[in-house]
Amino acid sequence: MRLLSLFTRRRPQRFITTPCRLTLTVMALLACLSGCGNDGEPAELPSAAEPRFCRLPSAQVETRIDGLLAEMTLDEKLGQMVGSGGPIDGTWQTPDNPRLGIPGFRMMDGPRGVGVIAGKATAFPVGLARGASWDPDLEERIGEAIATELRAKGGNVILAPVTAILRHPLWGRGQETYGEDSLAIGRMGVGFIRGAQRHAIASVKHFAVNSIENTRLRVNVEIDERTLREIYLPHFKMAVDAQVGTVMAAYNQVNGAHCTENKHLLTDILKNEWGFQGLVESDWLAMRSAAASALAGLDLEMPTPLFYGPLLKTAIDSGAVPVATIDAAVRRILRTKLCFELDTKPAVVDPTQVESTPHTQLALESARQSIVLLKNEAGILPFDHTRLRSLVVVGAQAATANLGDNGSSAVQPSYAVAALDGIRSRAGQVAVLAIPSDTVSPQDETTIAAADAVVVVVGLTKDEEGEGLDRTQLELSSRYEDLISTVTQLNPNTVVVLHGGNAILVEHWINSVRALVMAWYPGQEGGNAIADVLFGVVNPSGKLPVVFARSAEQLPPFDNHTLRVTYGYYHGYRLLDRNEVEPRFPFGFGLSYTRYRYANLRLSPAALSRTGSVQVQADVTNTGQRAGDEVVQLYVGTSGSSVDRPVKDLRGFRKVHLQAGQTKTVTLDLAASDLAFYDVAAKGWEVEPIRYTVYVGSSERDLPLSGSFVINE
Ligand code: GLC
Repeated sequence: MRLLSLFTRRRPQRFITTPCRLTLTVMALLACLSGCGNDGEPAELPSAAEPRFCRLPSAQVETRIDGLLAEMTLDEKLGQMVGSGGPIDGTWQTPDNPRLGIPGFRMMDGPRGVGVIAGKATAFPVGLARGASWDPDLEERIGEAIATELRAKGGNVILAPVTAILRHPLWGRGQETYGEDSLAIGRMGVGFIRGAQRHAIASVKHFAVNSIENTRLRVNVEIDERTLREIYLPHFKMAVDAQVGTVMAAYNQVNGAHCTENKHLLTDILKNEWGFQGLVESDWLAMRSAAASALAGLDLEMPTPLFYGPLLKTAIDSGAVPVATIDAAVRRILRTKLCFELDTKPAVVDPTQVESTPHTQLALESARQSIVLLKNEAGILPFDHTRLRSLVVVGAQAATANLGDNGSSAVQPSYAVAALDGIRSRAGQVAVLAIPSDTVSPQDETTIAAADAVVVVVGLTKDEEGEGLDRTQLELSSRYEDLISTVTQLNPNTVVVLHGGNAILVEHWINSVRALVMAWYPGQEGGNAIADVLFGVVNPSGKLPVVFARSAEQLPPFDNHTLRVTYGYYHGYRLLDRNEVEPRFPFGFGLSYTRYRYANLRLSPAALSRTGSVQVQADVTNTGQRAGDEVVQLYVGTSGSSVDRPVKDLRGFRKVHLQAGQTKTVTLDLAASDLAFYDVAAKGWEVEPIRYTVYVGSSERDLPLSGSFVINE
C-alpha cells in the first residue's frame, strides 16, 4: 500500500511564506524545521540523552504550526481531528490536507504484530507472554521490528502498546497487556515505545482503567484518587515520560465520565500535570459527545467523524466550544506529524521487511524467553534424548498453533509452528507419537500407557477469551481437565503445556502431573520454543507477570455484567499478601534447569533524604551445571506509614545471564521518590520519613535477602 505522497520529492527550498507561495510543498517547510543550513541541507540535531518528543527544534515547529493554523479554515482544522472511516488500503487513516501538504495518519494495530487488516506480518507472542520475559530491552527490539513492518506496509502509527493493569484473570483482553504490576507493565511498555518510535508513532492504550471486556463500552469504573494515581496510572506516566506520540482513550467510564470526555484524565492529569506533548485519540467509536469531548481534551476522533463533524461545528458556532480549544487540539495533531517527520520521512513500502528472518527469529527468541516452567518434579524436564525412547503428544492444541485472540490485536503470519511440529523437529531419535485430539480411544490409552513420557497440550483459546469476550471460568474447560486426568492415570510421567492469555486455576490436576509449562499464546514460532524448553535446548527463564491463585476467593470480585464497578487498591500478589494467603504460583515465579543463590545484600546509604536514593546490591550465583537467565527482583515494604500500604511492592528488577558457577553483583538503584504515596488531600506525592525494608530474590514469595534503610525528615 503506497502511502499517499503529497509532494514531488525535490530538494528542499527556502520556504517563502507569501500566500502565492503557500502551495510550495511542505517538504521545504518541514526540511527547514530540521534546521536548514545555508544551502538548505538539514543541519545535524543535537542528540538528546533523554528521549525527546520532537526530532526537530521544537521552537521552529511551534512557529510553523502558528503559521499553519493562521492559514487553515475551520473546516480544515476539523478535518485534522477525525478519521477517514475505513479501514482503507489496510490502514486506519486520517485525511491528508493537499492544499497545505499535511499528510494524514496511517494507523495499524497492534501489540503483537501488524494487524490482519494490513495482510501478513510476524506474529510475536502476546503481550502477557512478553511480560513473562521481564526484559524491556527485548521488548524494545520487538517494538522496533513491529514498527519496521508497519512502515514497510505504508503505515506511520502503531496502535500499541497496551499498558493496562491485569486486575483479574477473567478479563478477556489481559493477554494484550504485560501483567498485573504497574512498574513491570510500565517498563515493558516503555521498551516497546522506545523501539517502535525509531520508525513510527506509538499509541499507548487504553487510557485508562480498562480491565473488563463484556461491558467495556458502558461500564463506569469507580475508583478513589489514590488507587487511580498509584495503581492504574503510573505505567501511562512512564509512557508519557518516554515521549509516546499518542494516547488512546478507553471506552469505559471513570468516576462517571467516559474516558473520551474525562477532563480529569485527559487534561488535568495527562496534559497539564504530566506535560504530554502529543495527541489523544479515541478508541474506535468510543466517543459519546462533541462539545464535552473537545473541552475534556480529546483531540482526534477515530475511526470516523460521528461527533467531530457537524455536531462539533455547531458547538463551535454556538460558542460552547471556543475556537482556541480546536486550535489546541489541531496544534497537538500537527506537532505529532511534524515532530515525527511524517512528510520528510514517508513510509517506503518494502515487503522484504515483513516476516523477515530476523523478525521471525526474534519471535522465536521472545517465545523462548516468555515460557514459564511452573513445575518440574523429579527433574522429568528437560527430556534426555539418551534415555527417552518414546514420547506421546496429546491434544488438539498440540497440532494447531494457538495464536490467541481474533480481535483487533490479531496477526496473520504466513506460517505458525504448533507444539507437535516443534517437538518433532527437536526430538532426534526419540519416537514421537501424536494423538491430536482432546479425547482418547482405548487404543490411544494403550499407547499412552506404554510411552516413556506424555506431553498434553491444552489451554484457553480465542473462543474463551479475547477482545469483547471475558472468560467465564478460572479453570480449564472440563474437557481438558478430563483429558489430563485420563492421561495421568495411564502414565505418571505426564507434562502439561498450557496455552492462554491469563492465569489459570490448576488445582484439580496440578498434583497429578510431573511438570507444567506455561506457554501463553507464544506466536508463530511458539511450537519451536516449547520444544526448545522441553528438550533443554533453552534453559527456561520466564517469570510470572501475574499471580496464579488457588481459588476465586483469593482474587478480587469480577462482575462483568454490572455497569458500575469499584476498583480497589488491592489486586494480584498485593491482595494475596495482604490477606496472608498462599498463591498456587507466586508473582515473579518461574523454575529453571539450574539454580541460583542470593547473598551479600548491601544497601548504601542506610539513611537518605526525601530526595535521595539508595543503591541496592546483591550477589547472585548460578550454582547449577548450565547457564541461565535469572530475573532478580526487588520489593519494598514499609513500617510506620501514616497510610495503608501493601506488605511489599515490586520496586525494581534486572534480568542477568549467568554461566554455570558464575557470580554477578546486581545493582538496583531505588529513589526515595519511587516510594512515595499519593496524598489525596495534598494533591501530591508524599515521601514519608519512615523505615523501609528491601527484599531481594527470585519471586514475590522467594526473597532470601532483606535489609532496611530510613528516609530522614
Ligand atoms: C479496537 C480496540 C483498539 C484498537 C482499535 C482499532 O476497538 O479497542 O485497541 O486499536 O479498535 O482496531
